[in-house]
Parts: sequence; structure tokens; C-alpha cells
Amino acid sequence: MTQALTDDDIHGQFDPLMSPLVWDMGHIANFEEYWLLRELGGRKAHDPERDEMYNPFDNPRWIRGDLPLLDRHEAKEYLTEVRHDVDTELLRTDLRDGPEIARGGYVFEMTMQHEAQHQETMLQALNVRPDLAPYDLATTRRLPSRRSVEDTERIRISAGPFMMGTDDRISAYDNERPSHAVHVDAFDIDRFPVTNRRFAAFVDDAGYELPELWSAEGWAWRTGVDHQAPQGWIRDGQGGWTQLMFGLIRSLDPSEPVIHISFWEAEAFAAYEGGRLPTEEEWEKAASADPDSASVSIYPWGDTPPTNRHANLGQHGWGPAPVGSYALGASVYGVEQLLGDVYEWTASRFLPYPGYTTFPYPEYSEVFFEDSNFRVLRGASWATAPSVARNSFRNWDYRQRRQILAGVRLAWDVS
Ligand code: AVJ
Ligand code: FE
Repeated sequence: MTQALTDDDIHGQFDPLMSPLVWDMGHIANFEEYWLLRELGGRKAHDPERDEMYNPFDNPRWIRGDLPLLDRHEAKEYLTEVRHDVDTELLRTDLRDGPEIARGGYVFEMTMQHEAQHQETMLQALNVRPDLAPYDLATTRRLPSRRSVEDTERIRISAGPFMMGTDDRISAYDNERPSHAVHVDAFDIDRFPVTNRRFAAFVDDAGYELPELWSAEGWAWRTGVDHQAPQGWIRDGQGGWTQLMFGLIRSLDPSEPVIHISFWEAEAFAAYEGGRLPTEEEWEKAASADPDSASVSIYPWGDTPPTNRHANLGQHGWGPAPVGSYALGASVYGVEQLLGDVYEWTASRFLPYPGYTTFPYPEYSEVFFEDSNFRVLRGASWATAPSVARNSFRNWDYRQRRQILAGVRLAWDVS
């Protein structure tokens, strides 16, 4: 990801919302050193100053450009050294009866997912730059052929309980546990994520100008910013739209899921169509439950790991894939493209499940439960690593954020 970029691209801070890419590079190495070499391996710190520099809580994103960060070569060298020693630790760790954080490989899994999540953040940072030179990697999109579908199709999810969350202590984060029964009333849900076609109707119908479609807080956000369409949308001068991503401009594909909208835009769009955002309970039930059995699945299609025919994951697509591209990835209920393409905003605050316990550190989840401005996002994006994508995964962000790789899928009340 970084090889294709200039030194300026990697070292510069181009937006107060996003770190310089080189901060993420050093942070990935520092996190890996901390958990695998020190907490697990009992080794001494390479350099305690790095812990301060790469601590995200001590250094909010907007000041990271002013820190004396390792440069791209130093950061890479740091990571290479750490990883060399990690191989040694992996060989000598008893994954069965060793320290609790190592059981089943948990802390290795956690570190791998941490890096993968930072790769998504780095892509967001690149993508907020209107001046980025066309990014070569993004010119080749590897997507399957698709069938033609109706993008407004809805699916009825029957009333009843399902088991939400997981008891997995190896691949899942603490906030996904424990598994617990939740009753969900009947509702309808979009078979597909909301497409650019549907969202463009809202934009072209003056959706951004009509306060009655926005909540009071949403309208306060809308009038405080200058946005008139999702991030990256540019009028083509002929009544249509183009889309700027990674320095490349292409015509907006009406059949692709809309991406780069805030919670407030998702909410106003829902009001425009007469639907609403799903709760995270509803989303997860549509993804993992089987109306004929009490069991739930890890992925919408079952328990087998994703392939490129199940979902648009792993940075191959360089954007969302048209709806109808992943019939094989449908859930038991028939809902499609739940994992991959775009994270999906839900109506739910980020809160602990009943019986939640912090493991192994409060700064992953616990410290974020208090803040009522966060909303949960479900699913996974086109840039999410397969190791992070699962039905129980919970992402969260501030309601005003639109640089994240998020879209929406609507829920509908049934009488
Ligand atoms: C789960 C994506 C909200 O990036 O803030 C990275 C992931 N946690 N390093 C974030 C994370 C610690 C987290 N999100
Ligand atoms: Fe991190």
C-alpha cells in the first residue's frame, strides 16, 4: 500500500481528521511490539519514547503531523525487527496452556486484526485528499460478474429471538461477547445496501435542502458543513455525477452501494424513502439467524471463511461492487452483501452487551461506551481483511464521519 506513494504522501498530514500514514506504520509496529514481545514475551521496550509517540490517546490525530515520527524507512525497519522477534515468540508460546492472552492464539489474532484495521484507516486518509495523484493500485478492480437485480427489493425477517454476539475467545473482540438471546419484532430489510441510484434521487430531489427530512441534530450538522452530496461526488455538468476516489475520477455507477456518507446523511435518506436505520440487533439477525433453527452462523453464508465469490473484501475491489455481485454470500434469509463493500450505519449506540467483560485492555472498547455521539456500524467494507469480517463484528464512529468506508441499508416497519 505504501510502496506506490511518494515520501510526501506518506509523511504529510493532509487533513486534521487523519494521521500521516507514517504514524499508522509506526503505531502498527509499536502495538505489535507491546503485545507480542513485551506483554507476551516479557521483553524490554525497544525505546519507551515510542510508546508515547504512538499512543493514540495521548496524541489526537490532528497533532500527529508535528511529532518527531520515525520516517517511512525507520518505521519499516522497526516493524521488520519486531516481526522477526515475533516469529521466535510464536514458536515458543504454548497456545494451549500458556498465558491467558495467548490461548488459542488470541493475542496474535488480535494483533493481526489491529494492523488490518489500521490499513483501512490509512486508505481513508489517502482518499480524503482531493489533490492525490492517481493511485495506481486503485486502477485495477477485481470484481466478479453480477446478475441484474432490483435494488429496492426487501426481505421480511420474522419475529422471534436469536442468539446475538458470540462466545468466541480467539477471533472476536471483547465487545462481541457474550452470546445472548435477543427478541426482535418482525421487520423488513433491504436485500442490498442502498445504491448510488437511490441516493442520487434523494440528492437530486433537494434532500440536502429540506430540513423536514433531517433530525434536529442532523440539520445542525448539515447547515454547519457545506456538503451537498456524499464525499467524492462531483457533478458531471450534464445532470449526472462522477466520483473521485484515490485520485481517479470515474462516472458514478448507479448500481454500486453508496459510500462515504455520515450517519446524518443516512438518517435523512431513510426519512426521504420512508424507512429507517436498522438497529444492530436487526442487522445481526438478518445476517446470522436461521428461522428454522436456533443456531447462528459466523458469516451470512455459513461458517466457511470468505472467498472472493462470497464478498468484496481484502482491498481487491477498490470500491464497492454493484449489488447483485455476490449471490453466494446471501444469508439464510436471503439478504446480500452484508459483509464487504461498505460498513452500514445502524441506529444503535455503542454499548456493552449484558455480561460484557473487558479483555484484554479497556482502550479497545470500554473507553468508548460512554460517548453518546458514537453509532455502531455493522458488516465490513471492500478494504476489510477477511480476518476482521464476521457477523458479530461491531465497528463504531462519530455520527458526522464520512471519510470512513460506510454506506447504509434500510429497515422498514411492518404492521
Ligand atoms: C474499531 C475501527 C473504531 O480505528 O479507532 C485501531 C480500531 N482500535 N486501533 C479505531 C482500532 C485500536 C478502531 N475502530
Ligand atoms: Fe490502533
